[in-house]
Amino acid sequence: MNIITTADEMRAWSFAQRRAERSIGFVPTMGALHEGHASLMRAAAERDGAAVASIFVNPTQFAPNEDYSQYPRTFDADCALADRSGVHTIYVPHAKAMYSEGYSTYVNVERVSEGLCGKSRPQFFRGVATVVTKLFNAVQPDRAYFAQKDAHQCAVIRRMTRDLDFPIEIVEMPIVREADGLAMSSRNRYLNPEERTRAVCLSRGLFKARTLMESGERVAAAIIAAARDELKDVEVDYVELVAADTFTPVARVEGAVTLVVAAWVGKARLIDNIKFEDCNA
Ligand code: PAJ
Repeated sequence: MNIITTADEMRAWSFAQRRAERSIGFVPTMGALHEGHASLMRAAAERDGAAVASIFVNPTQFAPNEDYSQYPRTFDADCALADRSGVHTIYVPHAKAMYSEGYSTYVNVERVSEGLCGKSRPQFFRGVATVVTKLFNAVQPDRAYFAQKDAHQCAVIRRMTRDLDFPIEIVEMPIVREADGLAMSSRNRYLNPEERTRAVCLSRGLFKARTLMESGERVAAAIIAAARDELKDVEVDYVELVAADTFTPVARVEGAVTLVVAAWVGKARLIDNIKFEDCNA
């Protein structure tokens, strides 16, 4: 495994790949890798001549009361999973180098960052946009792979990439789920067996709502109520139907929409979503 720790070394690696006419595919992660991350790595390894993943638990996207210090760190297992998934270069910057003494610059993506997780976690998208900008500058990829699991994050990064003229294609990959429907997440490790059983209600609620949309329901309130009906045993943060591109709430299904949910199950805050496109709109 080729482990790179500084931005200068990272840029030198990318420069060498480009000189060898290999396109660069990049998968940013916070580690504690699972099959969801592996699917992004496999896609990068298949599609691009050179694939690199980053592992960095980014302090600026966590609020002081959140799980930054407890966030699972499983570096050796992460390297093995990356290797198995066809990614043999990992960028692992040090927090002190990423945010050195006197660090003062943040990327704020207005409007699209404002609702949902942006409301519950006001620091979150600013931290994500800032770190992804820094990672893009170090890696200088041709394509960056993200997943629908964090659909709102994808919308923010797309907007930022367009607004700041990054010459990078943003690829959005599907959600990888456990056999019972639970979306894979590094935070699922926080669940005890009883909570793990309860957590499946997030995807169950979303699937039920999708069936309702497939059968013709177009009123957001009815769709949200169907999902909420399954969420009685967890502490719901939000259930919202939003436009897929802007993430603003909609009253009716028109065009592409995303039904998003965030809920606390024990000490784990879990998110999930489904997309739905009204083909007759
Ligand atoms: P992290 O939560 O580690 O996720 C890294 C990437 O893996 C994201 O694009 C996320 O959507 C994707 N992913 C997570 N669970 C998935 C699943 N079940 N199926 C498919 N893909 C999945 O997202 C972050 O890290 C950070 O915010 C980051 C962008 C790295 C910035 O710090």
